[in-house]
Amino acid sequence: MTRTIETGRCNVPALGFGTWQLQGSDAYDCVRVALEVGYRHLDTAQMYDNEEEVGRALRDSDLDRDDVFVTTKVSHRNAAPADVAASTHASLDRLGTDHVDLLLLHWPSDVAPLEATLEAMTRLRDEHKSRHIGVSNFPSQALEQAAGLAPIVTNQVEHHPYLAIDAIEDVADEHDLFVTAYSPLARGRVNDDALLREIADARGCTPAQVVLAWMLQRGVAAIPKSGTPERIAQNHQASDITLSDDELARIRGLDEGLRLIDPPFAPAWD
Ligand SMILES: NC(=O)c1ccc[n+]([C@@H]2O[C@H](COP(=O)([O-])OP(=O)(O)OC[C@H]3O[C@@H](n4cnc5c(N)ncnc54)[C@H](OP(=O)(O)O)[C@@H]3O)[C@@H](O)[C@H]2O)c1
Repeated sequence: MTRTIETGRCNVPALGFGTWQLQGSDAYDCVRVALEVGYRHLDTAQMYDNEEEVGRALRDSDLDRDDVFVTTKVSHRNAAPADVAASTHASLDRLGTDHVDLLLLHWPSDVAPLEATLEAMTRLRDEHKSRHIGVSNFPSQALEQAAGLAPIVTNQVEHHPYLAIDAIEDVADEHDLFVTAYSPLARGRVNDDALLREIADARGCTPAQVVLAWMLQRGVAAIPKSGTPERIAQNHQASDITLSDDELARIRGLDEGLRLIDPPFAPAWD
């Protein structure tokens, strides 16, 4: 089963394949596997240094370009309007495509006013270089501001059972945006969790699949990464799992405010 998130502005396959830290032939091979096992949404970024391999893997697959939702991200260092345009054109060249489906600003940036950055991204959308635009790593107030400035469709943020994002979800609901969860498997930690393992064992699945099902059922897009073909396939099958209300609530109870991605240039979080 393929789950799709539909908002007023955008339809997106809810489960995407994350590619951070996959490089060179690993990136190429894993994206080929991901497409073979059914992913139709790929997540890359200028900062990941793998756009070329991601694009080549997509072109070498049997799929039409239009069958796959491709996201890339403008680095916060390229947030000045001229750099937004130039770096996006360079991303498209590396990806070997004339457009992406979603162009995100990777992090809030102090290189240029947000309005100017989003204007440059909106222009790229109007020129059909990206079907949609959005932001990433925006706390709730900054998200509110961005949603008032430009037709963004998502905020891609860290989210897993140990990190709830209620304030961001509230703003997203208010503006008909979807949330994309990065590091949805808490970078592998979910595998060692007693509760998630108990639910998984009872259902004959894996803790990672339980967590991804928990995201998809709540209408949150998730972009797990794996460099292991078996796990790439297993994770994708999470779309077939439907958890009970009780299971959903018990997983929600795991929140402990654990943030795993917090570089020096990160904003003040909610
Ligand atoms: N916007 C941003 O600033 C931002 C930041 C971080 C990440 N992201 C995006 O989100 C994607 C995912 O995040 P992430 O890579 O940080 O973390 P993640 O997807 O939560 O976790 C990846 C880790 O979990 C392991 N794993 C994967 N499937 C597993 C399974 N079924 N059972 C046990 N372990 C499993 C992987 O190991 P193996 O590879 O060995 O399987 C890897 O170590 C990234 O690739 C990137 O596309 C975006």
